[in-house]
Amino acid sequence: MELEEYYPTACERWILTHHARDIADLFVGEPFNLIDLGSGDGSKTNVLLSELTARKHDFTYIPIDISEAAVQDQTKQLRADFPELEVRGIVAEYFNGLMWHSQFANKRNLVLFLGSNVGNFRRSEARTFMRTMWNFLQPGDLVLTGFDLKKNIDVMMGAYNDSLGITKQFNMNLLHRINKELGGNFDISKWRHYATYDLFSGAMESYLVSRVAQDVEVHAINQVFHFDPFEPIHTEYSYKFLESDIISLAEDTGFVIEQQYYDDRRYFLDSLWRVEKRIGL
Ligand SMILES: C[S@@+](CC[C@H](N)C(=O)[O-])C[C@H]1O[C@@H](n2cnc3c(N)ncnc32)[C@H](O)[C@@H]1O
Repeated sequence: MELEEYYPTACERWILTHHARDIADLFVGEPFNLIDLGSGDGSKTNVLLSELTARKHDFTYIPIDISEAAVQDQTKQLRADFPELEVRGIVAEYFNGLMWHSQFANKRNLVLFLGSNVGNFRRSEARTFMRTMWNFLQPGDLVLTGFDLKKNIDVMMGAYNDSLGITKQFNMNLLHRINKELGGNFDISKWRHYATYDLFSGAMESYLVSRVAQDVEVHAINQVFHFDPFEPIHTEYSYKFLESDIISLAEDTGFVIEQQYYDDRRYFLDSLWRVEKRIGL
């Protein structure tokens, strides 16, 4: 995330740094919940938390992440960095966390869905996801979603094929983890990382490609998998967006766009949506 070539993190940090005031202005004098879906290490969210706490906003920060270690580490760090902050971390899948929270929510919510996590869904899945989120929220609630925009293909390719090979290691790590946690016997040297941009789907796609004919055993499921030379394992989608895609996604799922926050290079967009619920919607 800190790599120069992996631009999304720097872009979104730029956006939050330059618009933290505008976002804080949305809740002047009104208590609210700040929900962080897939909060991770929360390093970019800290930019917002600094602004909100400095201005003495009355809010509860609710990070939701499926990774227990992520929630624990972040909560510990927040206690040290923002001792006054009320934090209620939830270790859960996105919607289980939202459902749990919605039972007690008696204030307006601002939901953060940062890091272009939405881009990991296929386009139809992204619609279902945003509509499900809408179902859990009340009219007037806000959602700030990070979208990685379509741009110079070389820039996108560079982010997934960086010169230090970090993204390659990130992808290969799947095989290490299958070996370690599921008793697999993948020989890493027989695989290569391959990431490419698909013009038709508009997504960066990551693969692990078998270099040779090979059999791999995974003890946990007692199964052997045969791979032909050049056979791929598809590991990730990262869909890229046009502003028009984002507008139709909001409209189709019951939201109204309140603000579009771009970074200075217009590589990335944090789009602020308001939940609207009218009869018939
Ligand atoms: C790419 S990181 C983004 C972290 C942070 N929001 C940011 O923008 O820097 C994605 C995070 O989402 C979490 N995550 C992925 N799928 C999830 C799910 N279905 N439910 C809850 N958390 C999930 C991961 O554990 C990870 O911490």
